[in-house]
Amino acid sequence: MYSHIRIRFLAPKTPYLRDSVLQTMKLTIPELSLVVLIGPSGCGKSTFAAKYFRATEVISSDHCRALVADDENDMGATPAAFRILHSIARERLRSGRIAVVDATSAQPESRKPLVALAAKQDCLPVAIVFDLPEELCVARNRGRANRNLPAGVIRRQRDQMKRSMNGLQGEGFRFVYVLDSVEAVDSAVIERQPLSLNRDLGVLGLESEPVEPAP
Ligand SMILES: Nc1ncnc2c1ncn2[C@@H]1O[C@H](COP(=O)(O)OP(=O)(O)OP(=O)(O)O)[C@@H](O)[C@H]1O
Ligand SMILES: [Mg+2]
Repeated sequence: MYSHIRIRFLAPKTPYLRDSVLQTMKLTIPELSLVVLIGPSGCGKSTFAAKYFRATEVISSDHCRALVADDENDMGATPAAFRILHSIARERLRSGRIAVVDATSAQPESRKPLVALAAKQDCLPVAIVFDLPEELCVARNRGRANRNLPAGVIRRQRDQMKRSMNGLQGEGFRFVYVLDSVEAVDSAVIERQPLSLNRDLGVLGLESEPVEPAP
């Protein structure tokens, strides 16, 4: 049962479990972590985030685009939106709160600043990969009122994700969960690991930046 959930877990002093299939549907996440949802448009990142995390825990690139340009689909606002997204993530981690990044994050370059940000704040980066069929993502996009990306864009995002997903641990993600079917996504359960266990899970012990007082 639940063998459709491929869970890859890496922690110091833990045997390297690449591609291991664990008989569980539990996704363990340190209470203080930077969770990065990875997958092409339509794979269900925002739906998943809304199901498992509080609205204030989720930082969405769409929302950040809307904040700066009044339009979540205004791609011209993307650089500014990500500056805001990174800034909110940094502030949340700095104040000891989990941050969930809801953006495509299909390319290594988009994930690199997130991993760096987590390390700087002494937090573990966690990747949740939505490895779902391209046709499903395209079909779901067709059914959306506010967004209908061309199939080619979705294919490119998915190809970028597929090409790089085996290297997520090498990029610095300490937990990598791959959900590779609709059933896996729908049956996943998030278990938050208490802060007291973070050290056992391999927090690096880096110094956090001092918290600056609000102006
Ligand atoms: N597990 C699911 N089962 C059925 N439908 C789903 C599921 N997850 C998402 N959907 C539907 O698919 C569509 C896209 O989902 P969602 O907005 O969560 O995708 P997304 O990955 O956040 O896309 P984007 O990157 O464009 O923001 C929505 O209409 C949503 O209702
Ligand atoms: Mg979304």
